[in-house]
Amino acid sequence: MITRVLSYTAVGLLISAIASSVAFAQDTPRGNAADGKKLFETIGCFECHGYAGQGGGAGPKLIDPPAYPAFIVQLRTPRNVMPPFTAKVLTDQQAADIYAYISTFPEPPDPKTIPLLQN
Ligand code: HEC
Repeated sequence: MITRVLSYTAVGLLISAIASSVAFAQDTPRGNAADGKKLFETIGCFECHGYAGQGGGAGPKLIDPPAYPAFIVQLRTPRNVMPPFTAKVLTDQQAADIYAYISTFPEPPDPKTIPLLQN
């Protein structure tokens, strides 16, 4: 039973990864990235994920975040040690604002493009 649930989860994650660009257009509510930045820095996401979403503290990096539905599941019912942020603490609109903000985090540059690292 558990393995079945897990394999469904794995398939679900795979599908959401593949479909994330499509899902982004369909399921992602409009968020305000500027409001999201304020929330990210006041409600405490930065404490574990870093101001630039670089991770390295108690949480993983948020560069290239999961698709919105998976993001909401993680936020409301985190899969491991992240504290839950319920709708009482963070409304759906505020969650969308944070998502809009973390979606602006740039990818780090390819190490091959950094001259100092080619020596
Ligand atoms: C106390 C530390 C902590 C805080 C505060 C925290 N997180 Fe997390 N976050 C984690 C950890 C640890 C994970 C790894 C999965 C887990 O533990 O549930 C995670 C996972 C995630 C993921 C999934 C990343 C991935 O690639 O799968 C997202 C998205 C996320 N957090 C967003 C947020 C947002 C948004 C906030 C603020 C509202 C926040 N987190 C606050 C620790 C934290």
